Amino acid sequence: MKYVLITGASSGIGKELAKQFAKKDHNLILVARREELLKELEEELEKDYLVNVICYACDIAKDPKAVYDFCKANDLNVSVLVNNAGYGDYGQFIDGDIDKLSGMIDLNDKALVALTYYFLKDMKEKGHGHIINTGSVASFIPGPYMAVYYATKAFVLSFSLALREELKDTGIHVSVLCPAPTKSPFWEVAGGETTAVYNNIFARTAKNAARTGYGLYDSKKAYAIDGPAYKLLIAVARHLPLELCARTIGYLQSKTKKAR
Ligand SMILES: NC(=O)c1ccc[n+]([C@@H]2O[C@H](COP(=O)([O-])OP(=O)(O)OC[C@H]3O[C@@H](n4cnc5c(N)ncnc54)[C@H](OP(=O)(O)O)[C@@H]3O)[C@@H](O)[C@H]2O)c1
Repeated sequence: MKYVLITGASSGIGKELAKQFAKKDHNLILVARREELLKELEEELEKDYLVNVICYACDIAKDPKAVYDFCKANDLNVSVLVNNAGYGDYGQFIDGDIDKLSGMIDLNDKALVALTYYFLKDMKEKGHGHIINTGSVASFIPGPYMAVYYATKAFVLSFSLALREELKDTGIHVSVLCPAPTKSPFWEVAGGETTAVYNNIFARTAKNAARTGYGLYDSKKAYAIDGPAYKLLIAVARHLPLELCARTIGYLQSKTKKAR
């Protein structure tokens, strides 16, 4: 039996990705720290769809290999790996908490690389598989006031597209989902609920982002930006000098609005 493994499935985009995959009859392994939320989702998905759902509660920033060991110990065949867990932190870099900032690199980048490494070895043996990594529109641009977060997401895009090239003709695909600012607990965790970047009419829903993510599974494309307004924004931003781009994003991110 084949499984789609989704990290960060207890909330937001990961939870909606789980629903998208379940709707198309994929069996799921759901990973996050909050077991009770994973169990609730397991119950909901098994009631609504004819799928097998397994939960594994784990802090993947601390021990990513535990996820792989759990799958091996239970003989679970992971054919699609969705590295989606991540968080951000809003504010001036120098005012941030260094443990939260370096923990972000551990989760957004190091755990993603480790999980990709372990599961890719098995995929290569089988000659097929798909790794979908959640990047961001932040992957394309520098982001003052979320400097470390934007840099972690630039890493995700660069690493994933390089790996995709290394794996061409192997039957294994690598894709990057690039959500725009999306309504989810992410902004509360980051402490950025009041920024204009998030509080505007273009903010997307987690379901929007998850549909775009499932689209990557179907199309096997290299990456997809969620939302037409942000596709346009990134197309323009990529033609600007990087310093001007950083200044514009810094201006937008320093502006705050009353949270809606
Ligand atoms: N929302 C946005 O505007 C936005 C935009 C672009 C990209 N993204 C990216 O989209 C992804 C999902 O974000 P979201 O918006 O869905 O945020 P979210 O609702 O806060 O979800 C984050 C998920 O990551 C899990 N997680 C956090 N730390 C973890 C850890 N140490 N070990 C295991 N799981 C952990 C959380 O579960 P537990 O707390 O239960 O562990 C949760 O399921 C992230 O990579 C984020 O960077 C979000």
